[in-house]
Amino acid sequence: MTFTKTATQIKKSALNELAKTRDINTLAFWRKEYLGKVGKFTKLTRQIAQLPAKERASAGKAVNELKQALAKALQEREKQFHELPPSPVSRSQLSTFFDLTAPGADFQLGHLHPITQMRQYAEDIFVRMGFEVFEAREVDDDYHNFESLNMPPQHPARDLWDTFWTEDELVLITHTSSMQHRILLGQKPPIRAIIVGRCFRHEATDASHEHTLNQIEGLYVDKGIKLPDLIGTFKKFLDEFSQRDIKMKIQPSHFPFVEPGIEFLLDCAICFGTGEVEGERCSTCGGSGWLELAGAGMVHPSVLAEAGLDPQKYSGFAWGFGLDRLVMVKYGIENIRHFYSGDLRFIRQF
Ligand code: DAH
Repeated sequence: MTFTKTATQIKKSALNELAKTRDINTLAFWRKEYLGKVGKFTKLTRQIAQLPAKERASAGKAVNELKQALAKALQEREKQFHELPPSPVSRSQLSTFFDLTAPGADFQLGHLHPITQMRQYAEDIFVRMGFEVFEAREVDDDYHNFESLNMPPQHPARDLWDTFWTEDELVLITHTSSMQHRILLGQKPPIRAIIVGRCFRHEATDASHEHTLNQIEGLYVDKGIKLPDLIGTFKKFLDEFSQRDIKMKIQPSHFPFVEPGIEFLLDCAICFGTGEVEGERCSTCGGSGWLELAGAGMVHPSVLAEAGLDPQKYSGFAWGFGLDRLVMVKYGIENIRHFYSGDLRFIRQF
């Protein structure tokens, strides 16, 4: 092959390869291959010395032309890359090339579950009222869930809760009251605590009953605490939480760990307390117009004594309310099962 022909061939392949470079990194690789110390152009130049004297002049010309052509093409290509944003992809990565500088695909930012949002909101209110926040264990023992709360084994009041037991006789807590004993134990009043946690019940579910529910327990023990303190504190919280003067009903109830025991009910936010929706019985409140929100009462003397507190000296109140129910009332949600349905159309509304 004549020298000029080789030069023409190098030019052809060089321009071809140059067009395939994708960024300054691949361009650097090209430059090394053609114009580098052992590059194709440099090698060709060196061959001139070995040519017969009469061929050297034309070879020199061909080399000069080639050099100019490559330099010009390189300059143009470089200019193109400087106009583009840089891409950190090396030639070896080219087979799996993707453009890091391309605009990203759209994605939707998530947010906290409405129950979590409202739990934090409620905690804030209680902290401002001077309560300390505790978390409940989700699995506990019989003693804490029942016995320390004045419900010895075989006590019929245990039937109030449909309990899940594990094979080693632990219980998925049925209520956040399971933490009362731990908090009372060995503390000197005043004791002001709220306990938040998920509770579990072997329920037949319906619009206002779920197998998993979130409770917020309140516990306040000091000298001279009376029932009106309980009612006033709870009402204050409800008004803060719902940002209105909420309508509340109190009725007597029974829980073994309080004496006396009461229940707080709220007017149903779906039927506005009428018990009917479009002529049909309201399924959220079962037609009563009221939604049962909380059990409460004055802490039973036996519960105080079990934790080493003298019931002659101290008294206190406690409540346990369903956060899910309260969120239903706040937002007018008609079915408690929406919360755990995993339906994003529901979740995205909050
Ligand atoms: N633990 C009860 C339940 O889940 C609610 C309750 C009633 C909590 C009275 C209390 C209380 O702290 O004093 O049904």
